[in-house]
Amino acid sequence: MLASSISSSVLLFLLLLLPPAHPADASMQWVKLEGSPLSHLLLDPSVGQLFVGGVDHLYQLTSDLEVMSHVKTGPLLDSPDCLPPIVAQDCPSATPTHNHNKLLLLEAGAEPRPGAESGSLIVCGSLFQGICEKRSRSNISQLIYRTSNPVDTQYVAANDPRISTVAVVITTQSKQEAGMPGGELRLLLVGRGYTSRGPGDIPPITTRRLHPVAPPRRAFSQEEELGKLVVGSYSEYNNHFVKAVAHGNHVYFLFSRRDMRHTKEYRTYASRLCASDRSFYSYVEVPLLCRGGYNLAQGAWLGDLSGTPALFVVMAAGQASTPIATSRSALCVYTMKDLDATMRRAQEVCYTEGGLDSSGQEEAYIEYAVSSKCLKLPKVKVLVLIGTNVSPVLQVLVRPDRSGHLYGSLLVDGGGAIGADLLLDESQRHVYVLTDDRVRDARHPLPVCVQVSKVPVSSCERQTDCLSCLSIRDPYCGWCVLEGR
Ligand SMILES: *[C@@H]1O[C@H](CO)[C@@H](O)[C@H](O)[C@H]1NC(C)=O
Repeated sequence: MLASSISSSVLLFLLLLLPPAHPADASMQWVKLEGSPLSHLLLDPSVGQLFVGGVDHLYQLTSDLEVMSHVKTGPLLDSPDCLPPIVAQDCPSATPTHNHNKLLLLEAGAEPRPGAESGSLIVCGSLFQGICEKRSRSNISQLIYRTSNPVDTQYVAANDPRISTVAVVITTQSKQEAGMPGGELRLLLVGRGYTSRGPGDIPPITTRRLHPVAPPRRAFSQEEELGKLVVGSYSEYNNHFVKAVAHGNHVYFLFSRRDMRHTKEYRTYASRLCASDRSFYSYVEVPLLCRGGYNLAQGAWLGDLSGTPALFVVMAAGQASTPIATSRSALCVYTMKDLDATMRRAQEVCYTEGGLDSSGQEEAYIEYAVSSKCLKLPKVKVLVLIGTNVSPVLQVLVRPDRSGHLYGSLLVDGGGAIGADLLLDESQRHVYVLTDDRVRDARHPLPVCVQVSKVPVSSCERQTDCLSCLSIRDPYCGWCVLEGR
């Protein structure tokens, strides 16, 4: 699916439980950065610093948006048709190519102890068949791992800026391996869309080794004994991945693709794996339904509904039978408990009815609808912030009486499109957003400049009296009633 096709709809969102109301700082901060479109925004919760990934640029920012460290990642001589290292004589199609940031993740280190690895920032770009590197979390200018001569098992991200890649870092216990004692094993589970150029045999979901790495093993490599999703024809599994999350002992992927077997329509699916399952025997997927014809997931967040973990998914209605999202969209919530129950049931039916075919992955799931749990929300006020590319950040209050209520929006100064990720700071009073400031250069079809903004979540204290405060219906403003202002 083309990324350009998700044009006029909701891109992604973030969930928070309403914290005790506090006066928020009304001033908004922002910083303009090169590298549009900025695709990823990541918070290091231990120090409050931000990492930003865009085209040809990576940044490390303080919580007040000061640039601490900046790395240029492109453009470099490359071609999706050639395997790295790129040598101009051997690759006539190689040209200076922009490097789109495809994955930006934190790899937690082992227990902090002297001499131990303190964890790293994982960065994967679209160049060189999507290879990845590790950088220091304390200073991204310091490279921890990169290979100049990658092998084909180390290609991770899609080599096409339009094809999505998602991933999640998990830690499991390893059995004793040759030359290595058993112990902690860190893996990267990757969901990647199909690309028509370059190596065409990379499965949609693969497991990659992160740590420990001792020769002949390599970081990010897809080893024989690590799991991968075996599918018949790669181009048929043209998954558009939206999210990968770890929850409990499982890893979940959210994606949309054409239902090849039945309706031929695009649908959204959730799939699940046991984190410790190196063979992917536990793989199961179920279609996600969102009543009202919303068939394409656009963004997702694993949140918490008063102690009940739930997947919040922004869904858009597709244009006819295409993967192109229209502006008609909705928020659907699925509790993980219900999702797990549906998957368990799908597995049972699968095994008892002998539907499992070891070579055909499509046999491994049963068409079983997960109904939307939008109508079963516990009694808690849940505020959902939704970033869109046509309007400001939307604020939606999910009410105990089963309804959602769009109560307002946060204006991001000068900003247009809200990109990639939305993040809350530790106090939950500010949200970090990526925006396009719509400054365009005739030579560049894309905006030349973008910014990271830090926006107060509530505008309560901008109101001078309680009545006007209440009139904006901001759930953060309960405090102002009690305090008489
Ligand atoms: C980060 O590392 C680079 C390269 O080693 C160095 O020039 C820079 O001063 C460091 N920055 C910080 C904030 O430590």
